[in-house]
Amino acid sequence: MAKMEVKTSLLDNMIGVGDMVLLEPLNEETVINNLKKRFDHNEIYTYIGSVVISVNPYRSLPIYSPEKVEDYRNRNFYELSPHIFALSDEAYRSLRDQDKDQCILITGESGAGKTEASKLVMSYVAAVCGKGAEVNQVKEQLLQSNPVLEAFGNAKTVRNDNSSRFGKYMDIEFDFKGDPLGGVISNYLLEKSRVVKQPRGERNFHVFYQLLSGASEELLNKLKLERDFSRYNYLSLDSAKVNGVDDAANFRTVRNAMQIVGFMDHEVESVLEVVAAVLKLGNIEFKPESRVNGLDESKIKDKNELKEICELTGIDQSVLERAFSFRTVEAKQEKVSTTLNVAQAYYARDALAKNLYSRLFSWLVNRINESIKAQTKVRKKVMGVLDIYGFEIFEDNSFEQFIINYCNEKLQQIFIELTLKEEQEEYIREDIEWTHIEYFNNAIICDLIENNTNGILAMLDEECLRPGTVTDETFLEKLNQVCATHQHFESRMSKCSRFLNDTSLPHSCFRIQHYAGKVLYQVEGFVDKNNDLLYRDLSQAMWKAGHALIKSLFPEGNPAKINLKRPPTAGSQFKASVATLMKNLQTKNPNYIRCIKPNDKKAAHIFNEGLVCHQVRYLGLLENVRVRRAGYAFRQAYEPCLERYKMLCKQTWPHWKGPARAGVEVLFNELEIPVEEYSFGRSKIFIRNPRTLFKLEDLRKQRLEDLATLIQKIYRGWKCRTHFLLMRKSQIVIAAWYRRYAQQKRYQQIKSSTLVIQSYIRGWKARKILRELKHQKRCEEAATTIAAYWHGTQVRREYRKFFRANAGKKIYEFTLQRIVQKYFLEMKNKVPSLSPIDKNWPSRPYLFLDSTHKELKRIFHLWRCKKYRDQFTDQQKLIYEEKLEASELFKDKKALYPSSVGQPFQGPYLEINKNPKYKKLKDAIEEKIIIAEVVNKINRANGKSTSRIFLLTNNNLLLADQKSGQIKSEVPLVDVTKVSMSSQNDGFFAVHLKEGSEAASKGDFLFSSDHLIEMATKLYRTTLSQTRQKLNIEISDEFLVQFRQDKVCVKFIQGNQKNGSVPTCKRKNNRLLEVAVP
Ligand SMILES: Nc1ncnc2c1ncn2[C@@H]1O[C@H](COP(=O)(O)OP(=O)(O)O)[C@@H](O)[C@H]1O
Ligand SMILES: [Mg+2]
Repeated sequence: MAKMEVKTSLLDNMIGVGDMVLLEPLNEETVINNLKKRFDHNEIYTYIGSVVISVNPYRSLPIYSPEKVEDYRNRNFYELSPHIFALSDEAYRSLRDQDKDQCILITGESGAGKTEASKLVMSYVAAVCGKGAEVNQVKEQLLQSNPVLEAFGNAKTVRNDNSSRFGKYMDIEFDFKGDPLGGVISNYLLEKSRVVKQPRGERNFHVFYQLLSGASEELLNKLKLERDFSRYNYLSLDSAKVNGVDDAANFRTVRNAMQIVGFMDHEVESVLEVVAAVLKLGNIEFKPESRVNGLDESKIKDKNELKEICELTGIDQSVLERAFSFRTVEAKQEKVSTTLNVAQAYYARDALAKNLYSRLFSWLVNRINESIKAQTKVRKKVMGVLDIYGFEIFEDNSFEQFIINYCNEKLQQIFIELTLKEEQEEYIREDIEWTHIEYFNNAIICDLIENNTNGILAMLDEECLRPGTVTDETFLEKLNQVCATHQHFESRMSKCSRFLNDTSLPHSCFRIQHYAGKVLYQVEGFVDKNNDLLYRDLSQAMWKAGHALIKSLFPEGNPAKINLKRPPTAGSQFKASVATLMKNLQTKNPNYIRCIKPNDKKAAHIFNEGLVCHQVRYLGLLENVRVRRAGYAFRQAYEPCLERYKMLCKQTWPHWKGPARAGVEVLFNELEIPVEEYSFGRSKIFIRNPRTLFKLEDLRKQRLEDLATLIQKIYRGWKCRTHFLLMRKSQIVIAAWYRRYAQQKRYQQIKSSTLVIQSYIRGWKARKILRELKHQKRCEEAATTIAAYWHGTQVRREYRKFFRANAGKKIYEFTLQRIVQKYFLEMKNKVPSLSPIDKNWPSRPYLFLDSTHKELKRIFHLWRCKKYRDQFTDQQKLIYEEKLEASELFKDKKALYPSSVGQPFQGPYLEINKNPKYKKLKDAIEEKIIIAEVVNKINRANGKSTSRIFLLTNNNLLLADQKSGQIKSEVPLVDVTKVSMSSQNDGFFAVHLKEGSEAASKGDFLFSSDHLIEMATKLYRTTLSQTRQKLNIEISDEFLVQFRQDKVCVKFIQGNQKNGSVPTCKRKNNRLLEVAVP
């Protein structure tokens, strides 16, 4: 989706003024107040035209995110609030689109944020330029060169925890598309004195601390190092740890960066070996040793360290030892060797350490360049980023500060030149008349330093090369002679009468009035540092090292290439490189970032006005603004100008059809802006005073408010009307619905009212009729009642006499009837089962019904018995008749009886018909056999028993032999008179025969049978039916039996259980037969 382009301007929502060109009035105070105000609102960037002023916030601000990069990408410089990205974008686009080489010059004092700014520029360019694997690798290498150089070239100082101790200029090369191809880094004057000595509160270069903190034990052993900082004389201990800096982690970062940049493993190793050697050099100590010839000599105190260095670097120990003790001077063909005293020995040691380190640093830069150099030969466009040490004023300023400040002096000059040039060029380009501007030109200071004949540097060189004793004092004397009259030079011993009495200056010092302020330089060390002398013996010893890298660092040590000419001095070298740099910069389109340090405490939120004022002054910001607005304070292309202010004039609002310039002309005429206030360039409008611009802005603001009100008004009107229409429409709909509803409701109401009224009327009518009917009925009822009462009274009068006499009996009878009725009805439900043996019978409800109840019970029992009997067959009836007969005869009389009840009467037990044995017997009997059974006939003589068949027929009683079946006796029933038996539980019975009968001749029979009851009963019945006489049955425990002529008493006695349960019979005497019953 295409991003919606919102046209904005720097002028929108400004805090203070975003571009100081717009300051009114313009003076130091307003400039500082403006910076302060913006700083307090986190706006650390402010413009002066196209120059970016950056105030170090000393804390991370959320203004460098990828979103911000996107915001500033491809936007015009003045479109958004001031930002370093705007400048980077401008530079990059101008390089890519207009084919102009760019340089970004970052200046400011130490700790002002130059290095950070340079990194921001690089990262912005990396983010917006082309992408792709190859391009990304180049970018990565370019970016990763920073940590490597910072480790070796940066250190903690009192001003900055990560202060660059070298100047750096980096050319980034691009192809025509704007993709990065590679880069070249130039380094300027590493502050090598730091290797051997650091001011109080500062550190040596980071790499030493990183190595000792971050290296593995193994690596440390290999480098013959110990982790403890305090073991090394070259490391300052009071500030070895820096807050918020993790040396060990940084060591890993650096090694990683070296790998990305393209260092081989053995190269990294060599570099670290050199670093270790430098560190260990500091631990070599000397002691004086007197020689006989009076010359001072020195001797190494402890050779162990020396030995280890030699092992590490592959140098012959004796060679190095000698180099620390002697100095060989070659002049013409002569070679003179002198011994070194202790001081000289220390000097030699430190010189070696410094040289070793600074040469290593240069080697590193070259090595990086080798990696990042562009691979193709195509034409390149270049963006140079210069991050050079800022202007420095310390308490003790020495040669280094002098050099650094010289460099800044040169940069300021080029800044002035280029700014003016650019300004002038623009005027020419735009065809505007140029007006001269007054400003301070520091060329005169540059001249004081670099002039080839009488400049300070030239003088120093002269002094160094001069034969004879040369000291810092002689150098100062020379300065006093030559430069005394210079406006910007001061010294105590100056011959110039103006400074003769200047006692404010200490001895052995000189002061230069730099553009950025006066600096007092201690002259001590100038000569030595300029000479940068390394005794030849040492460089030769280094050249002899087995260590390839060290050997390559000291080419002058090669005896074959011995060069008697002095090497160029440090000053002249620097001067030359600065000159080249300046030349290089002049060919490029400059972009300035001027860094300002808000406080000395490295603290956020503190804005020290005095400090800033000083910087504003020496950076010449005020002059910068003046130059910028010398002619015209503000300029803007016609299109954006028209776009921004077109609403101020009827003709141009809302659309201008013609060219933008004509539109702006119309606009300015309309607004009646005085003609001298502006000027029309070719593509831009130039506005002389910020006042005019602000007036325009105010008008615009006013107009925008009006427009906003207008838009608001129309919008509100539209909104209200739409709303109203909608409401009306809704209202009609609602009203229609409501009316319908109301009518409906009314109708319903009327209808229901009608119904109510109707029903009331109907009800009323009906009630009226009802009332009448009721009345009529009541009248009739009343008549009837009256008649009834009347009749009643009459009847009662008539019947009163009957009534009283019969009432009680009637009621009694009725009640009784009711009770009896109820009783019977209840009984009906309560009758017990039909089983004749069921003894249950409901209890009697009333006493007076006692007899009835019993009677009823009896009747019921009879009835149910009858019912029961009715079920019987004739045979069964017969059996039961017999059983009944037996019961009548024996029940409660003979003890044997109960046991017979359950036995069925069978009669003919012996089946004579079927048994052939008894055939004769059967044939002899013609009558029906009622009983045929075996009995025991008791012998009356002895009481013994014999088995006999007992037969009873209708008319006779027969006895037969059991075996033969022969009839022994036959007694007609008429001759049987009586049957006797005991009352006990035995089967004895006697059959008494009629006296005088034929059968009775032998006497009565005495039997015993198992079926006594049956036999007796049947005998009785048969006799009755045959003779019509009841057979006498005597039940007694003593009876008489006829025996021939005698009578024998049969007596039954209880007890004697000798024979178990069988009764026994015994003849006791003539007259007594005793039967023992168990
Ligand atoms: N834009 C910035 N945002 C946040 N902190 C910054 C910024 N610029 C500088 N600093 C802080 O200030 C310190 C010094 O900055 P540096 O660039 O090293 O100064 P110089 O190179 O000018 O000596 C940095 O280490 C960082 O902490
Ligand atoms: Mg820096």
